[in-house]
Amino acid sequence: MFSTNHKDIGTLYLLLGVWSGLVGSGLSFIIRFALSQPGGVLEAKIFNMVITAHGLIMIFFFVMPVLIGGFGK
Ligand code: HEM
Repeated sequence: MFSTNHKDIGTLYLLLGVWSGLVGSGLSFIIRFALSQPGGVLEAKIFNMVITAHGLIMIFFFVMPVLIGGFGK
């Protein structure tokens, strides 16, 4: 956890990315469920919040850590 070795740090970034990808996928599941009926299942504010969280987590906690932090290092 406190290593200064770049290869260890890269592995930690990959692990963070895998975990965040799962969280983001969980949110996409909620989105799919919300869109399962005309008019939606969730309140509009909550729906917007879930999509925003999904997008932010996927880009900043999945794509960037994996590509830059993981594969980069
Ligand atoms: C690498 C990044 C991303 C991945 C891997 C990803 C993955 C997914 C997956 C697997 C679904 C479920 C699709 C379905 O069940 O139909 C989904 C849905 C969705 N995602 Fe993402 N997503 C990413 C980034 C984003 C971003 C940046 C946004 C926008 C801020 C976004 C917005 C949405 C929306 C609106 C849906 C619902 C679409 C629908 O089913 O009609 N996603 N995403």
